[in-house]
Amino acid sequence: MDVTTLTRNEPEQELIQKLLDAGQEHLFADWDAPGIQDEAKAAFLATLTRIDSSYPGGLTGYITNARTLLAEARKGGNPFDGFVPHQPNTVSLTTFDANYDHYEALGKNHFGQTAIVLVAGGLGERLGYPGIKLDIPVEVTETTAYLAHYAANLKAMEARMQTPRPVPFIIMVSEDTDSKTRAALETNNYFGLKKEQIHILKQELVPAIADNDGHLALKEKYKLVLKPHGHGDVHLLLHTSGLAARLEQQGIEHLVFIQDTNGQVFNAVPAAVGASVEKGFNFNSIAVNRIPGEAVGGLAKLVKGDTELTLNVEYNQLDPLLRATVSPEGDVPNEQGFSMFPGNINVLVIQVASYVKILERTRGIIAEFVNPKYADETKTTFKSPTRLETMMQDLPKLFGPNEKVGVSVFDRAWSFSANKNNIVDAAAKAATGGTPESAATAEADFYLAGRTKVTAAGMTVTDAATESILDIPIVPGPRVILRPSFALTLDEVRAKISGGSIAGNATLVLGGKEISLENVDISDGSALVIHACDGAKVTVKDLKVDNAGFELTPLTAEEMESADTPEYLKLRGYLIENRGAQIVKFTEPGEYTL
Ligand code: UTP
Repeated sequence: MDVTTLTRNEPEQELIQKLLDAGQEHLFADWDAPGIQDEAKAAFLATLTRIDSSYPGGLTGYITNARTLLAEARKGGNPFDGFVPHQPNTVSLTTFDANYDHYEALGKNHFGQTAIVLVAGGLGERLGYPGIKLDIPVEVTETTAYLAHYAANLKAMEARMQTPRPVPFIIMVSEDTDSKTRAALETNNYFGLKKEQIHILKQELVPAIADNDGHLALKEKYKLVLKPHGHGDVHLLLHTSGLAARLEQQGIEHLVFIQDTNGQVFNAVPAAVGASVEKGFNFNSIAVNRIPGEAVGGLAKLVKGDTELTLNVEYNQLDPLLRATVSPEGDVPNEQGFSMFPGNINVLVIQVASYVKILERTRGIIAEFVNPKYADETKTTFKSPTRLETMMQDLPKLFGPNEKVGVSVFDRAWSFSANKNNIVDAAAKAATGGTPESAATAEADFYLAGRTKVTAAGMTVTDAATESILDIPIVPGPRVILRPSFALTLDEVRAKISGGSIAGNATLVLGGKEISLENVDISDGSALVIHACDGAKVTVKDLKVDNAGFELTPLTAEEMESADTPEYLKLRGYLIENRGAQIVKFTEPGEYTL
């Protein structure tokens, strides 16, 4: 084929030649004569060029990797063959004891050497929200979006440093989330963060593969089938952008990877970072107790001869592995009702120095895999085109004996509650005893974590009765929100709150550094909200709060249908309205008593 007849652009000619040499003639067969479909051809070549430059090793590298992985997949075989699972190197942080305080304090001292990486390129198909997930409010008492909440945590980290410096905030987006994420940041003035501390990295789709020979799939003439490559792209982008290496040069020692909808994640960050620092973990997974059978990977140390690897074992691989090795009954509950191995929530603390070396060695391509659905057992054809994928938790697959992998286990609602499922699917999960992971349960867990904090400080908390809204059970209160500006560690909560009580459907919101509460009683249904600016010292002592508070009201069928009801309320099936809450705002520095 004479490539000069296809395009006059020399780099495009070179790329076409490379693809022809790589057996991709079908992409350029039957090209129309010049003047016909020129725009479609140009767009096609632009797509090929873009992918060629974004994937390390280019498109032909991708095709080579695909052929290798497809050949391995065809052979079948069990990746865990001969490996025996053992308990990983675990730091237990499920109880709030002196040990917990120790790790929190260590982590807090390390905020100046920590950066936050948020992976937010996912489509959120299961949730079906029309916008980006980061724009959804984590709670609708004050209506704070996930992104605003995360940014507030970064600001609070900065406020706790001896020598304040901006916490680098890396956000991975995709074509689906890029413009809306940027718009959310811009219209909110970066939520008080500095524009320069935010680094947006955009993941590209990868071409789908039609067969075992690695032919790129065409949707139609001049159009590739493109699919997401997975959240492991974050490693690739941190490498290709040079950002990981730059952060290391700037003195960043740990990167904390978080997900788009987890309102509680920063509760665990200080102690998890502390555990990484003290134990010298190169990779530390934040984990929770796992219910047997649930769709959450298990973290295990796999041992075969001299080889030891601490890895996330996907939930569908865990049961067969256990049956073949340590548990003939498979993934069954232990005495506490939990799975033998802690559950991976994909919140990772990665030590930068060893990370940068691995990125250089692998060019950022971390443990790619392929999962073709074959048409039959001859494994010669696929039901539909497949693609290479990568998952961010697979980094330890590339570790050697000198890299240390650990697991920090936290209480579940304290550290993790995602908003992933639409109302119908969430209700179905609830009906079968699963975790609904909906907007309503994420919000309820957010308040539960707040209650956990005030309980730890000695406040008496009486929970509201469980309520079912659209067949999703939640405990609607008390609704406690301690803003990150108020407290980032348990130690801070204990120093600022003592005694008092809160009950039922009451609400307590505290935002501001210098608020203290002593013997404050908030009766069922009442609400106290205090926001204090920097320099406003607010002392609340022996106060009885008794008012009409906030009311959580289910939406009517009509409201659920109405175009006037915001989508983020429809995701939950209720709204929260102010019926007479005591809301106090201090906007001038000074000393105040309530
Ligand atoms: P999820 O498992 O929640 O997937 O991703 P999702 O793609 O957002 O949702 P569904 O499956 O379509 O319903 C876990 C985290 O990884 C990010 C998500 O944004 C979320 O924070 N992610 C996922 C990416 O950044 N890129 C991807 O390609 C996939």
